[in-house]
Amino acid sequence: MEVSEHIKIIKATASAPSNIAIVKYWGKKGVQEPVNPSISFTLSKSVTNTTISYQPSEDKLDIRFLFEGKSKDSFVPKLQQLTSRISAFLPFLEKGQLIIESSNTFPHSSGIASSASSMAAISKALFDVQIQLSPECLRDNKDQLISEMARLGSGSACRSTQKGWVLWGQSAEIASASDKFGIGINQQVHGNFMSLQDTILVIRKGAKSVSSTVGHQLMDNHPYREGRIHQANKNIKKLLQALNSGDFAMFAEVCEEEALSLHGLMMSSSPAYTLLAPESLRAIKRIKKFRDHHHLPLTFTIDAGPNIHLIYPKAQSKIIVPFIEEHLKPLCENEEVIYDEISIK
Ligand code: PMV
Repeated sequence: MEVSEHIKIIKATASAPSNIAIVKYWGKKGVQEPVNPSISFTLSKSVTNTTISYQPSEDKLDIRFLFEGKSKDSFVPKLQQLTSRISAFLPFLEKGQLIIESSNTFPHSSGIASSASSMAAISKALFDVQIQLSPECLRDNKDQLISEMARLGSGSACRSTQKGWVLWGQSAEIASASDKFGIGINQQVHGNFMSLQDTILVIRKGAKSVSSTVGHQLMDNHPYREGRIHQANKNIKKLLQALNSGDFAMFAEVCEEEALSLHGLMMSSSPAYTLLAPESLRAIKRIKKFRDHHHLPLTFTIDAGPNIHLIYPKAQSKIIVPFIEEHLKPLCENEEVIYDEISIK
């Protein structure tokens, strides 16, 4: 087919940060809805940048994906699932040719969730394409819609479409909270939690032995399912209180209970598994000993992997960074440590 010179190619670019959950989303219902509410904050340096080129045509939607300049066909099925789920919102996605190019500002498989930032950036850019083509298709609340679309790509991505502290999932604590999209809660957060550092100890690089998709599924018939849902709701309430009042000790209690419970759930799934490495536990022991000795506001969280995220206020960096460099860095694969922090604006 000869391509007419007049066929317009529509371009859009967008960026989105990764996020780290303090109360964890673990277990799904329906189409990518959470069984419990979660709260996270977005990161500053860990960002996905995306460029989309869309060429309208009468053919069924065709998707090409390039990651850091190279074709990555293995991600196309995930994008097909996303576009088929959101074409009700963005009708242009039924037909035409879509080229999606993404790159991350952070190393992959390093304990920073890349699916959250990628799906959030892609959803923003797709929204922009629809605006350029036919804005009348779009309903009023742009932020909600973009978050909802990102969720349909990867659950936790709905907490990456806006900056700072985000709550996702129905909760008795906040009437406007929803299972369908994340809501920003920065207004309710004390200044003490607006400069948090997230230093990631890359204990092990590389793909996980059990994916989060499988981990979520194992919650369906988990013996502690109901207890976990109860615990997460209780921790949302406690975390909101801590965030509101600026109480770091209360914040740290929730943070660590959530991190260790997530891994406890994995160890009590059927089949049972663990993603922690010996160095993960060694790091936790060293962190606790150091913070108890110096009475420091320092805590940690862990996502679905062996890597440890140290969380502390920026003002404490002077004393905490030398400790990380001397006592925690040697526990990391190739001594890799990533210094990131919360992004609010
Ligand atoms: O969004 P998913 O399907 O990658 O699941 C994320 C699960 C955790 O990272 C372990 C917790 C969370 O709330 O981000």
